[in-house]
Amino acid sequence: MKHFQYKNSSIRYTDTGKGTCVVFLHGFLENLHLWDEIIQDFSHKHRIITLDLLGHGKSDCIGYIHTMEDQADMLHALLSHLKIRKVILVGHSMGGYVSLAFAELYADNVKGLVLVNSTSRADSDERKENRNRAIEMVKKNKNLFIRMAIQNLFDTEILDTISDKVEQFTQQALETPTQGVIAASEGMKERNDREVLLHFSPYPKCIIVGKKDPILSAKAVEEETFENETQFISLPCGHVAPIECPELLKENLKSIIKQW
Ligand code: MLT
Repeated sequence: MKHFQYKNSSIRYTDTGKGTCVVFLHGFLENLHLWDEIIQDFSHKHRIITLDLLGHGKSDCIGYIHTMEDQADMLHALLSHLKIRKVILVGHSMGGYVSLAFAELYADNVKGLVLVNSTSRADSDERKENRNRAIEMVKKNKNLFIRMAIQNLFDTEILDTISDKVEQFTQQALETPTQGVIAASEGMKERNDREVLLHFSPYPKCIIVGKKDPILSAKAVEEETFENETQFISLPCGHVAPIECPELLKENLKSIIKQW
């Protein structure tokens, strides 16, 4: 594990392998270990970067709100530090929102974009309200909020078969500091709609959804890929494909990235 200083804060990251660089970005309440199973096969042919986003894992917080642009700017600073110019971005859920913000701000640095269990659309009013309620709950009892939030992510039919992995995932999520949880929620709430990038950006794009995702409708996300060149892949899982169906996700990512 390596550390990098960004705005007087420490950012944890990993950097392995050689070749086209692929950056893996985790989602809300997660950390870089989300990708442990996925990246194993990649570093033979690629340079793989994973990192803890601001306020997550072992990376510090820098403010009351971490916008998707703050996260993208931090990633850009890390890539400049490592002298990496072009990257393929793979973002899980909130990591997908960060990838889109990065792609908007630094289009020249993007070679390809994969959103996993994520969307290019902004929050609906209802979702913003839910986030406000969530923030109040986090202030009162962060651990209860995290346990409840995680229970709602998975395909209930397979939950029993992956209970060890879900428990490990939960333990890591519980380490997210209160400020990190609130700052990310505020940041997601005010993120811009970036569907336009799926239509008018020059690099290849793909969205991978979970058919049984309890928090993001696979059907609604599929609509984002209509009338543009974005590839659409649907997997038999809930909201956390890297935990629920790592092998399938890995095979799909490998064949997408190979074409790019
Ligand atoms: C995530 O998994 O990153 C979050 O569920 C995304 C969100 O709340 O929109």
